[in-house]
Amino acid sequence: MLSTTKEIFSSTRGAIAAFNWYNMETAKAISTAANECKRPVILQISESGIRYMGIPCLKGMMSAILEITKVPVAFHLDHGSSIESCIQAISLGFSSVMIDKSHEQLEKNIEYTKQVVDYIKKHNINTSVEAELGTLAGIEDDINVDEKDAVYTNPDVAKRFAEETGIDSLAVAIGTSHGAHKGKTKSPKLDIERLIEIHKNTQGLPLVLHGASGVSHDDINICNMYGAKIENAFGITDDDIRAAIQHGVKKINIDTDLRIGYMAALRKGLHENNSSIDVRKLLTMSSDRMREVAVEKIKLFDCN
Ligand code: G3H
Ligand code: 13P
Ligand code: ZN
Repeated sequence: MLSTTKEIFSSTRGAIAAFNWYNMETAKAISTAANECKRPVILQISESGIRYMGIPCLKGMMSAILEITKVPVAFHLDHGSSIESCIQAISLGFSSVMIDKSHEQLEKNIEYTKQVVDYIKKHNINTSVEAELGTLAGIEDDINVDEKDAVYTNPDVAKRFAEETGIDSLAVAIGTSHGAHKGKTKSPKLDIERLIEIHKNTQGLPLVLHGASGVSHDDINICNMYGAKIENAFGITDDDIRAAIQHGVKKINIDTDLRIGYMAALRKGLHENNSSIDVRKLLTMSSDRMREVAVEKIKLFDCN
């Protein structure tokens, strides 16, 4: 059943996994994992994911996902870069969009975000809106307080941002970053004190954690054993994820963990089946590994 993220947040305990998808293998893995766990799930796709699939394939896959998935599901636009992009996603049937103007000055971020919220209100559309405040990029291991204030979400600004925009959820910067290299020598430590302040100031607004992959060393080791060269890969610890959920995080974005699982199974499968040309056999193994990773994440996020 298609639901908005707002509906899913209010009816589900713990946090909801938001997985990036871009093909049949990712879609099936996510749907099957959600069915297995009997937990709602958010299938999110980036603009480059949409370009990769193309609109006709995207539409066909969306209807297939709705048929396969037996739990509430939201289709979400990840990191929408413009109002037009959000409107396109809405017209395709997405039940949630992110307008990401976090790299702009605050006033511009508020202005663009409000435009999307107003569009949805004006047209009476049942779609949720997520926006972001702060910057996630390349955090050092030992970031000092001044540096944190420059890039992390400011709790006072978060209050103003939430009030002035009317968004349904807010992505925060508290020490996560996208990709497989979230720390140089170890996992970064999330700024939970800051999260507590943001949560208090935004009065129950669902918070979103981007860049939340755990980066499994088991899968990285398999990738490297079969020809990859992925070094200094560190993700977010399970303890930090649990602490974030305790303090208002309701949506947790995972892309890298599925990618690593996909690649590990694919590389191993290619090596162990080197006389086979049955692509379907290899991709079934990849999809199954992604399903296992997704199940682990959904279960981890099912806590309060
Ligand atoms: O936050 C970004 C996601 O990991 C999507 O990445 O643009 O390569 O699909 P992508
Ligand atoms: P990861 O790179 O940690 O999986 O984060 C994905 C994400 O935030 C997508 O928006
Ligand atoms: Zn993101």
